[in-house]
Amino acid sequence: MTTAVDWQVRARGLVEKLTEAGVLDDPAWRDAVESVPRHVFVPTFYVQQPGGGWSATSAGSDGWLDAVYDDRPLVTALAKNAAGGRVSMSSSSQPALMLRMLAALDVRLGHRVLEIGTGTGYNAGLLAHRLGDGQVFSVDIGAGLVEAARVRLASLGYAPTLAAVHGAFGLPDQAPFDRIIATCSVPAVPWAWAEQLREGGLVLVDVKRSAHTGNLALLRRYPDRLEGRFLPKWATFMAIRDTDGAPPTLTGVTMQPEEGWRSSTQLDPQPWTAVVPWFLASSRLPQRLVFGYRGRSETGSEWATFRGDDGSWCMVRTQPDERGRREVCEGGPIGIWTQFERAHDQWDMFGRPGWDRLGLTVLPDGSHRVWLDEPDRACSWLITGGRNAAR
Ligand SMILES: C[S@@+](CC[C@H](N)C(=O)[O-])C[C@H]1O[C@@H](n2cnc3c(N)ncnc32)[C@H](O)[C@@H]1O
Repeated sequence: MTTAVDWQVRARGLVEKLTEAGVLDDPAWRDAVESVPRHVFVPTFYVQQPGGGWSATSAGSDGWLDAVYDDRPLVTALAKNAAGGRVSMSSSSQPALMLRMLAALDVRLGHRVLEIGTGTGYNAGLLAHRLGDGQVFSVDIGAGLVEAARVRLASLGYAPTLAAVHGAFGLPDQAPFDRIIATCSVPAVPWAWAEQLREGGLVLVDVKRSAHTGNLALLRRYPDRLEGRFLPKWATFMAIRDTDGAPPTLTGVTMQPEEGWRSSTQLDPQPWTAVVPWFLASSRLPQRLVFGYRGRSETGSEWATFRGDDGSWCMVRTQPDERGRREVCEGGPIGIWTQFERAHDQWDMFGRPGWDRLGLTVLPDGSHRVWLDEPDRACSWLITGGRNAAR
């Protein structure tokens, strides 16, 4: 049985941790974290086990309350995919990331805020506590998630507007908004969001494309565009889905090393070691790219693999040889590794800029242009071009 003292002491501990981490200076957000009980929104969480399965920890069991008031993301919903595995469908994001985002978004009293990705309802609770029910709108594609969030929020006396809809369309009936915060990543920022933002309003969203590389971008609404910078610190969210069920698995792409084109590389194939150049290569890569491993060696997996939704594939040895080079084999319509190396060379040429030097301009036709330092500089990369790119 959780008593008020139990959780309030822990919530204050979380506030201290977040303050020490430098993400919680605003007294109004401190009050929200202290007042909105995260445990109400996370009655059960799941942890992936080394063998691939998931263990569940529910209210009342050992470690549950400590974990809920720790600064960590917690997976809160699972579903079976076509391959029979259970995959994460929703989570309560890491509190430090949530507070960093709310601060970056410069949310103020009187703002109307739309959240894409209600999930557990915890972020909507923080927003409703700070701004009042009438200013907060939150949508999720999971109807069951929205209903559970509504019940939890109501049990605490909050009643923001919630809806079970595809977040890419926003919530046009309730527009305009001053702020839009997305807690799922998008391959491209839907123009519908720009249309529902007041001029000067801000949207904060994780833009992630091929190979799931990208970052949070804070974009301002101008009459003819959305424009702004990436947040300096990299973060990642689960990808937006088109249905309430598990996302489709990529099937039918077979790698045939005997028919592939061979080369070698000095670069590490794991995309998180080079997220910026992978992102800059996006427009030249298959729209969906799945990373994995293949084969076993003494030192771990033998190959890192990429499979694209257009049938392209590549395999790169995880370990370099004595000359520091890794064997590469690629096939299909797009030379995935060749395109990545080109983007990497260009990124090298510009001095390997980090997220703090990159910005993004989104136009109504759906094109996304990443620029270096200033929007009007000649140096830019088209990440997606033209019509229909925004979904
Ligand atoms: C990281 S969780 C959100 C966490 C949430 N803000 C909280 O405080 O618990 C991401 C959420 O995005 C939702 N999502 C995925 N695709 C979506 C879509 N097309 N429209 C709206 N929500 C979507 C997922 O169902 C999931 O609940």
